[in-house]
Amino acid sequence: MQSLRAAITAVGHYLPEDRLTNADFEKMVDTNDEWIRTRTGIRERRILKDPTKATSFMAANAAKELLAKRKLDPKEIELVIVATVTPDMFFPATACLVAAEIGATNAWAYDISAACSGFLFALSTGARFIESGKHKKVLVIGADKMSSIVDYTDRTTCVLFGDGAACVLLEPDTQGYGLMDSEEHSDGSQWNSLCMLGGGSLNPPSAVTIEKKWHFLHQEGQPVFKAAVKGMADVAAAIVERNQLTGDDIRYLVPHQANLRIIDATARRMGVGMDKVMLNIERYGNTTAATIPLCLADWEAELRKGDNLILAAFGGGFTWGAAWIRWAYDGTGA
Ligand code: ACO
Repeated sequence: MQSLRAAITAVGHYLPEDRLTNADFEKMVDTNDEWIRTRTGIRERRILKDPTKATSFMAANAAKELLAKRKLDPKEIELVIVATVTPDMFFPATACLVAAEIGATNAWAYDISAACSGFLFALSTGARFIESGKHKKVLVIGADKMSSIVDYTDRTTCVLFGDGAACVLLEPDTQGYGLMDSEEHSDGSQWNSLCMLGGGSLNPPSAVTIEKKWHFLHQEGQPVFKAAVKGMADVAAAIVERNQLTGDDIRYLVPHQANLRIIDATARRMGVGMDKVMLNIERYGNTTAATIPLCLADWEAELRKGDNLILAAFGGGFTWGAAWIRWAYDGTGA
């Protein structure tokens, strides 16, 4: 028997139906399909248009899909963690709203804020509750309604982001599957390269914060790009080298989907061809905390027990990290 690990045993996802294509952006700002595709790899994104619905709606729908697939009683869930930077409200935590909506009445619930690394940080956190023996069923969700904080007059950011949610169930494993290793980092010294200045205790909402557009995401693309290329590639390489994995051992790299060029650099550094990289940025854009679990949902049907996956992300904070997962089940049936 191997040591107690947290295995992903089910996946669920939710994507809103409405799409914003590059052609739509050509009518909104001074941009074009060619620039967006070559600089980012994005063709379209999903947008949650209904103004009465927020991140918890998408997260709960993703969770409901997972519960239905596994025919699981929501009362069995012991902990719900939602990674998001677009919570429905500052408080209560979006995870509390999700737990109530899905009927996970025996669970405790809280949010994690780590921008694009949010899912990885939440996965690592949730895994500790399994590995310690405290819990047997932990739901980890990545969800963001980026359209709620994107300035659709700013061409440098608006073309990048989309809305979506996806989740995984963590359960104990003693057969050598699950989260094998992970590494997490943060560095707040460049916080202002990627942030939302207004609305918090530093700049509470006021006529001034609205006038200055501080309730929108702000990103300085170049410094973030440079840090992301290095951070994501370094941390993914560190996990691979520490565990003596080669490109041949890896079934898939599952990178955060912010920019095709960042993903390409990470794959090259790891010695993994692009045929082994999960890519859906073209269809969904950057859904922040949802990108990695959305990839897992899209590729779930073709994953096999024992497949080695390397997850890697970089985001605002800065935050970054990587994880090695040995997949625990075949196809869509756990
Ligand atoms: N259409 C046309 N032109 C544009 C657009 C657009 N949509 N956006 C910017 N440009 C212009 C710029 O104004 C600039 O013009 P100039 O030279 O006349 O000033 C030119 O294109 C080049 O701009 P750059 O910012 O240098 O473009 P770059 O190649 O860096 O691409 C991008 C920008 C895509 C944002 C890139 O920097 C990037 O991907 N950054 C990292 C994103 C990331 O990883 N974020 C972390 C995760 S997100 C999170 O945590 C929430």
